[in-house]
Amino acid sequence: MSSSRGLTPKGPEYPFQHLRPSRKLNRRVVVVIGIPTGVVGIVVLSLVIICSVKRGRLSINTMARWKRDAKNYHFNAEEIIVNFGSMAPKRYTYSDVKKLTKSFKDKVGQGGFGVVYKGKLPDGRIVAVKVLSKSKDNGKEFINEVASISRTSHVNIVSLLGECYERSKRALIYEFVPNGSLDRFIYDKGALDIANCHLENKTMFQIAVGIARGLEYLHSGCRTRILHFDIKPHNILLDEKFCPKISDFGLAKLYKTRESVVSMMGTRGTIGYIAPEVFSRIFGGVSHKSDVYSYGMLVLEMVGERKNIEGGTSRASEKYFSQGIYKKLEQGETLGTCDVTGDEEDIIKKMIIVNLWCIQTNPSDRPSIEKVIGMLEGSALQSLPFPPKPVLDSPLDSSTTSLSM
Ligand SMILES: Nc1ncnc2c1ncn2[C@@H]1O[C@H](COP(=O)(O)OP(=O)(O)OP(=O)(O)O)[C@@H](O)[C@H]1O
Ligand SMILES: [Mg+2]
Repeated sequence: MSSSRGLTPKGPEYPFQHLRPSRKLNRRVVVVIGIPTGVVGIVVLSLVIICSVKRGRLSINTMARWKRDAKNYHFNAEEIIVNFGSMAPKRYTYSDVKKLTKSFKDKVGQGGFGVVYKGKLPDGRIVAVKVLSKSKDNGKEFINEVASISRTSHVNIVSLLGECYERSKRALIYEFVPNGSLDRFIYDKGALDIANCHLENKTMFQIAVGIARGLEYLHSGCRTRILHFDIKPHNILLDEKFCPKISDFGLAKLYKTRESVVSMMGTRGTIGYIAPEVFSRIFGGVSHKSDVYSYGMLVLEMVGERKNIEGGTSRASEKYFSQGIYKKLEQGETLGTCDVTGDEEDIIKKMIIVNLWCIQTNPSDRPSIEKVIGMLEGSALQSLPFPPKPVLDSPLDSSTTSLSM
């Protein structure tokens, strides 16, 4: 007999019938195992997501900062290339620099910013490669120099042909100026006695006018006014014809042409050539007249009989040096380093008078560099006003006589 119950599979068709989970058991398993596993899973998953988002966000921030830094850092350098187009100096890699100096074989000189080597460009031009010592200023000075020189093009300004800016390595590649710097002709009299006598007459005057023209160009001839702040014989290079070229804009700052007086945070320049106002603002504002002062000291030193700063002494020797020249001029003594006659002495006298004006303590008593050129080239010696005695101690002591410049 069969019944509806008899329809329930039994026997061999469902051999594991006794093992089949009951609905009750199923529910228990879900509650005991499933929920905690799910919760743990969700928690772990959330933690993983939170961590990766957090990590992701950090790295995004870091990357953004790096990108921004790199952009700023790079921008300064690239700005030169972009802004100056064809006038921009060519960029060289450090390995190029190594190649063109034959692994820094021929050292030409050393200054405060690094060592200068002689080199040769692939096109055969001889160059002076200034490899800058590691700087702490993140390349600011380097960029400043590159930017300053890139904007200039003048016969009395040294040409920058290339630059290298690779991580901490920096180098400036200039035209090679064969006669080196003017200091050799001023201080090394033993070795260059004959050359120095030759410099005396025509060449000294030509050098003085050339430097003034270079400065005039920097002060008012180019797009932005450039104040050099480190005019000294070491930074005047002489070519094969003794044409002077102003070098080293490392300390230069760029200013808009209309800004004539600037405020400076730190003392710049080199002892012996620095204008009093650069030392102390009580003497007046730092301006293009500060370069005029340095120019005056340089020329007086060139035509005078001794080095401006002897053995690193300070303003005392500066004072006595210029006062000694003044005294000679006042008393009509022979001026100059070699035997001179007639016209030659007039040229020297002219340079001394003009440059005694340039070293007046009060900046407003000094001529502008344009006026200096006019006085040197255009004025007769007799028409030049006699300068007041140079007094470095106080600008108030300087004579009331003044040139209107
Ligand atoms: N373009 C160049 N051509 C030939 N010689 C150069 C050139 N530039 C520099 N020199 C030589 O290298 C020397 C060192 O120059 P550098 O400008 O590094 O130092 P400095 O002028 O003596 O002092 P500072 O660091 O204060 O400028 C110079 O005195 C000069 O003899
Ligand atoms: Mg120099």
